[in-house]
Amino acid sequence: MKSEQQLTLAVSEERWRQAQEWEAAFWRSQNPAPAQTLTARAKRLVKRLLGRTSASPGDDWNHWWAEKFDGYRVLPQRMERAIELGCGPYTNIRLIAEGRQMNEVWCSDPLVEHYLTFEERWLGQAWRRGTVEVDDHPIEECPFESDSFDLVVMINVLDHVRDALECLRQAARIARPGGWLVVGQDLSNAEDVARTGEDAGHPIRIDDATLDAALLPEFEAVLHRVLTREEGRNPEAHYGTYLFLGRKKAEGHPA
Ligand SMILES: C[S@@+](CC[C@H](N)C(=O)[O-])C[C@H]1O[C@@H](n2cnc3c(N)ncnc32)[C@H](O)[C@@H]1O
Repeated sequence: MKSEQQLTLAVSEERWRQAQEWEAAFWRSQNPAPAQTLTARAKRLVKRLLGRTSASPGDDWNHWWAEKFDGYRVLPQRMERAIELGCGPYTNIRLIAEGRQMNEVWCSDPLVEHYLTFEERWLGQAWRRGTVEVDDHPIEECPFESDSFDLVVMINVLDHVRDALECLRQAARIARPGGWLVVGQDLSNAEDVARTGEDAGHPIRIDDATLDAALLPEFEAVLHRVLTREEGRNPEAHYGTYLFLGRKKAEGHPA
């Protein structure tokens, strides 16, 4: 029996919203709202003015992914327009952008408004400085023009979405011909699903054959690896980890 038969690539709007509630609560627990007393606010303001914030950018395995992608070193030094889809509260693009010139950086996530309230984190600070723009559409309803980004990043997102194949189509659509796509993804097979059961925050289970079928016709792979179960972040739940970094072919297949 083929494993894909038991994998879930799309769920109902209601199931997706439940997962997003779980997701928002998880990040809120790491970022409790700061005290709003006048004294607390004044202290924060003084610290910020003195440049003495204890701000930490936060990290959701972003350094781990960066290491697995060899520090993203094959990506060009200059890129006009870049976007991270499902950027989360801490983002991977903050690490990709380090030492690179990007003129327009978008961070897109349906929970982005919520993440901007995490005052001390990189995303909120970059947005307030005007160095990133934000968008709150789910990837399935991506509003951006086709062929318009030099770099599209989608790491650790596809098992959270409503429709994984539509998200892959949208990510491919908005990359420009010759532009770069970075996809990082925990992988599940039927045995993983049977062993771990229902997972509130991860409605989708996807495997490497499905990702290859969506990406390889449209992108020239430059880095294309599947890490073993033991090399992954959660060996109990995932038989592998998908790492893909590729360039969009000039004559990509129509979506
Ligand atoms: C585990 S977090 C990962 C965040 C980030 N990519 C990272 O690696 O730090 C998954 C993110 O996917 C977002 N997400 C869930 N469904 C989505 C959808 N349909 N479109 C875009 N983002 C979605 C969630 O809101 C959440 O911020």
